Amino acid sequence: MVSNSVLRDMISDSDDPFSVPPGWRSVVYANTASTNIEAREEPAWSIVRSHTQRGGRGRFDREWFSPAGGLWVSFVVPPPRLPSAGDLGVYPLAVGWAFVGVLKELGIAEARLRWPNDLMIADRKAGGLLLEMKPKKKIIVGLGLNVRNTLEFAEAPATPATRLADHLEECPELPTLASNFALALTALHERIEREGFPGILREINFALTPPRHVRVVRLDGSSTEGELAGLDDDGSPLLRLPGGGYARIPAGDVLRLEENV
Ligand code: BTN
Repeated sequence: MVSNSVLRDMISDSDDPFSVPPGWRSVVYANTASTNIEAREEPAWSIVRSHTQRGGRGRFDREWFSPAGGLWVSFVVPPPRLPSAGDLGVYPLAVGWAFVGVLKELGIAEARLRWPNDLMIADRKAGGLLLEMKPKKKIIVGLGLNVRNTLEFAEAPATPATRLADHLEECPELPTLASNFALALTALHERIEREGFPGILREINFALTPPRHVRVVRLDGSSTEGELAGLDDDGSPLLRLPGGGYARIPAGDVLRLEENV
């Protein structure tokens, strides 16, 4: 049987090359700087995973702690073809939502998406997404997910962290998890190509109830507080203001969204 899995600098591991889902290929490193960087050299429908990363990066180029036991993976996908005019601006949110679905399927009922790309379990951050989009070429979906790794960070993270193993009696192995997320991407692309983003945005908005009190901090340092009432068609947050009325904060202006303020 021919395997569609390539092992690079592999250390002993329980990787099962045959757990790679149909239509995908897999590359696994023992240790690399960043799977998002390695992924740039790989064709669409590749899963690029590493046991540890020396230079894992999060949003805004923040350091991403990547010790053994966590899922540090990048998926290379082609840009989906939209059924009607529009752009891929909300694609990252759609991926986050699809990945929340994977966590729920595993039995983590409290899994949720914190705008824009954090995978939360209740009020703790389990993982995050870093997408690199070259709309006409390929998209790299980087996923960092705490699974069995230590959560002893050099510096306390802004949001308390959690990991999958603490929420599941039987936590799947990393290759199985990577495969589950890859399959969710396959299904997401089929859905986007069939119906676009409106239905997905409706589901994301529905999951934002009851609304949380949040503070949206802009890139220029200013901030607005209110209840997160929903997301606009382009994924921008809409806040219900304490004094009445609403504010739409353009997604591109936002540095971060803080909860429990
Ligand atoms: C965030 O929450 O800021 C996003 C973190 C994304 C981390 C993952 S780990 C795999 C991939 N490689 C990286 O260097 N970053 C992403």
